[in-house]
Amino acid sequence: MRRQLAGVADARPASDAPAAAPERTRLLAESLDAWFGPIHAVHGITLPVLEGGVMAIIGPSGCGKSTFLRCLNRMHETVPNARVSGRVLLDGRDIYDRGVNAIAVRKHLGMVFQRPTPFPTMSIRDNVAAGLRVMDARISRRERDAIVERALTRAALWDEVKDRLDASALALSGGQQQRLCIARALATSPRVLFLDEPTASLDPASTQSVEQLVRELRGEVTIIIVTHNMQQAARISDRTAFFLSGDLVEMAPTQTLFTSPSDPRTEAYITGRFG
Ligand SMILES: Nc1ncnc2c1ncn2[C@@H]1O[C@H](COP(=O)(O)OP(=O)(O)OP(=O)(O)O)[C@@H](O)[C@H]1O
Ligand SMILES: [Mg+2]
Repeated sequence: MRRQLAGVADARPASDAPAAAPERTRLLAESLDAWFGPIHAVHGITLPVLEGGVMAIIGPSGCGKSTFLRCLNRMHETVPNARVSGRVLLDGRDIYDRGVNAIAVRKHLGMVFQRPTPFPTMSIRDNVAAGLRVMDARISRRERDAIVERALTRAALWDEVKDRLDASALALSGGQQQRLCIARALATSPRVLFLDEPTASLDPASTQSVEQLVRELRGEVTIIIVTHNMQQAARISDRTAFFLSGDLVEMAPTQTLFTSPSDPRTEAYITGRFG
């Protein structure tokens, strides 16, 4: 497993980097534009995301990070008057092709939001199984329980909840609820996991456990994480993309982006001159 960076300050030069994950593109956004009515929120972004890697997206508030993510899993189109153009290739197939069902394709594209969003009236077990129910009504109870256990284990939550799977999800702490949401997203075995500021509402200990989880999932599932915390991006990502005003300014190996960015706007942002 790759060693993670301890923080921005001790980011090592790219030449010291351990071998990268296999260079296969899992997801490719091509000339992606997105609008909310007349508001042009994402401007012709082309961005490849490698299989098994962790890509961080950073940039000031309102620069289009969440909108971009929501285009990658076909959620943007659920907003009234919203529009997308361009292509999003998941393992080479455009998820916007006619004939691709948005609900079916989202099974491969798990999403976790800033605030934990467990279903409040459901048990811990049913929360994890919720995605499966929608996807496949024929699944047996035994299969479901096995998938729930595996997803909770991958989300590093199993030991904390295995004796109270029927308790309400609301009985969990904020950090546990967020790991529950990650387990719910993992239950359908997605090819890509999108995390939109997953630790923004968490205390430091819970943040650490989610970061640890991301490190453990690296290599198993492709992850794209939006974060305002540059230390976090440096700690957990292989590559970082910097967005500004709807544009992708640059994308580079994380340590390169934080130590020798190629664009002066990136440098200004990471040194705290704006944002
Ligand atoms: N539902 C919406 N209707 C209209 N405009 C929207 C909507 N959601 C976002 N926008 C606009 O689209 C642009 C991009 O917003 P987005 O939420 O993607 O930014 P962001 O980079 O995720 O910001 P933050 O860091 O604050 O979460 C902004 O100008 C925002 O005001
Ligand atoms: Mg956002």
